[in-house]
Amino acid sequence: MLKDHLCGELTANNVGEKVTLAGWVHRRRDHGNLIFIDVRDRSGIVQVVFNPENAREAHHAAEALRSEFVIRLTGKAMPRPEGTENKKMPTGAVEILAETLEILNESKTPPFYVNEEVEVDESLRLKFRYLDIRRERMRDNIILRHKVVTFMRQYLNDRGFLEIETPILLKSTPEGARDYLVPSRLYPGKFYALAQSPQQLKQLLMVAGVEKYYQIARCFRDEDLRADRQMEFTQLDLEMSFVDEDDMMQLLEGLFSSLVETVTPGKTFRKPFPRLSFHDIMDRYGCDKPDLRFGMELADISDIVAGCGFGVFSNTVARGGVVKAISAPGCGAYNKSQIEELIELSKKLGAAGLVPIALGGEGVELGQLSMDKVKSVAAKYLTLDQVKAIASRTGAGAGDLILVVAGERERTNAVLGQLRNELGARLNLADPNELAFAFVVDFPLFTWNEEDNRWQATHHPFTAPRPEDMPLLIEQPGKVHGRHYDLVLNGYEIAGGSIRIHQPELQRQVFRILGHSEERIQTLFGQLLDAFEYGAPPHGGVAPGIDRVVAILAGEPTIREVIAFPKNQAGLDLLFGSPSEVTQTQIDAVHISVKLPE
Ligand code: AMO
Repeated sequence: MLKDHLCGELTANNVGEKVTLAGWVHRRRDHGNLIFIDVRDRSGIVQVVFNPENAREAHHAAEALRSEFVIRLTGKAMPRPEGTENKKMPTGAVEILAETLEILNESKTPPFYVNEEVEVDESLRLKFRYLDIRRERMRDNIILRHKVVTFMRQYLNDRGFLEIETPILLKSTPEGARDYLVPSRLYPGKFYALAQSPQQLKQLLMVAGVEKYYQIARCFRDEDLRADRQMEFTQLDLEMSFVDEDDMMQLLEGLFSSLVETVTPGKTFRKPFPRLSFHDIMDRYGCDKPDLRFGMELADISDIVAGCGFGVFSNTVARGGVVKAISAPGCGAYNKSQIEELIELSKKLGAAGLVPIALGGEGVELGQLSMDKVKSVAAKYLTLDQVKAIASRTGAGAGDLILVVAGERERTNAVLGQLRNELGARLNLADPNELAFAFVVDFPLFTWNEEDNRWQATHHPFTAPRPEDMPLLIEQPGKVHGRHYDLVLNGYEIAGGSIRIHQPELQRQVFRILGHSEERIQTLFGQLLDAFEYGAPPHGGVAPGIDRVVAILAGEPTIREVIAFPKNQAGLDLLFGSPSEVTQTQIDAVHISVKLPE
């Protein structure tokens, strides 16, 4: 190599050695006669001193150096003069006294500071991603991602899993998201679809007798992008034969706890991971991926306020709806505009309104609370005992703000769930160092799709129904629970999985409930159903989303921060400028014509 040492690894132990380094000019300072250059490579930074008395030519060459020039130098590792050590730098005890300097390449002035962690517009970062990845934050995230994937592979290899690649050019089948289509040149009018996940392929591998499979799988879904969603993303896709839910959850718990202990040992988490039922968490947190690092649970106060005479509450309960509340700690002194903002927010989230009950008198025991400390439009309809009952059920004390929403159960849960998330973030209720893992189980197998007036699979159509719910399958599909297990972490779903159907007739039955005709079932899913006729073993699997896992471990707000070359929020690749136009010849070759929107 052009170098024999890494910048970031030089310590007092190297003092006296002659070293050859190669990397980038991170920072340059002229101190009269002496020129100081911080040289950076992937491992870190080391200070190099050019002293004309020591090396005249090198010193002269160093005068031309600018940020991001690529250089190679030789020199001697020296202890830094007393009082000039930099305790914050791992290499802060040494400096390299330069002897020779070679400029390997020059650099234009970068469009943003590579050597400072200042806020830079994301579009600019993505357009110059190769410069952005030189910066500490992205470099660390990319290294963390590598460690996570390496660990996952090793963990599964050690347990007898085989890593197997599966095709990306696949067939379009309705599995949830919209497909990316690839027109075929050889077969006019026909299309491949990019794999949304290797779901059917891994099940076929179980029929093939592989027993334990995994893959670091690229998945493609034409969905609207969000902070935790990209159109192409990566899963640790895995599947096992002869397992039940417990086996799979144990594997996941073992994998994730060892992962955290190995790659982010400073983080805390609790074991065993709790297993929560879907209905329970929808009721308590208003969402199926709750952030369990803080409480603020949704409390049903319908029974307390049913007869209070405040129309919003009592009419809702009379109509069969619910009145639920959360308590925002320490927000009892919110002023009018802060309260208005919360009311507007809940309306945006879908509530008809929000009734705040502010408990003044911070520091006062709940037992000592008096009505003159209670501020709310509902106050005159409530007795002190009712307010105390609401406070005790929501966990509120004097000085807190109770937020009440009345309405239909699901919508009320959803609104309060989102308010809970928003307030949790605003009030910094979650410990950034904690990882709160939990399994979510007992999902319904089917969910009613109001728009299309039909059942849809809650996860995907291959999930097995719970055996005890089988008698309900035909008559009351909505009451059937699936054998799912999702893994949630700090408010994100990081993995979805289930025990699968392996009996061809049951699988056909589920497709029928989902509204597919016999002909369509065979065309779309014939490959799987046919395979199931040849001794399919019972099997199950799961797919943790690697981008989300790494983003959470890195403490990043979006998965774009842990992907080397992500699309931006609008689905654009700002570096290559895609999607882009192609030539008419290319379009003709795949036998399609382009119709632009009016
Ligand atoms: P599912 O669709 O739940 O399941 O995906 C599994 C996990 O993949 C991650 N994920 C995403 N990450 C980034 N961007 C996206 N657009 C995106 N979509 C999903 C999430 C999610 O939990 N084949 C099944 C798994 C199985 O049943 O084994 C599947 O793909 O972390």
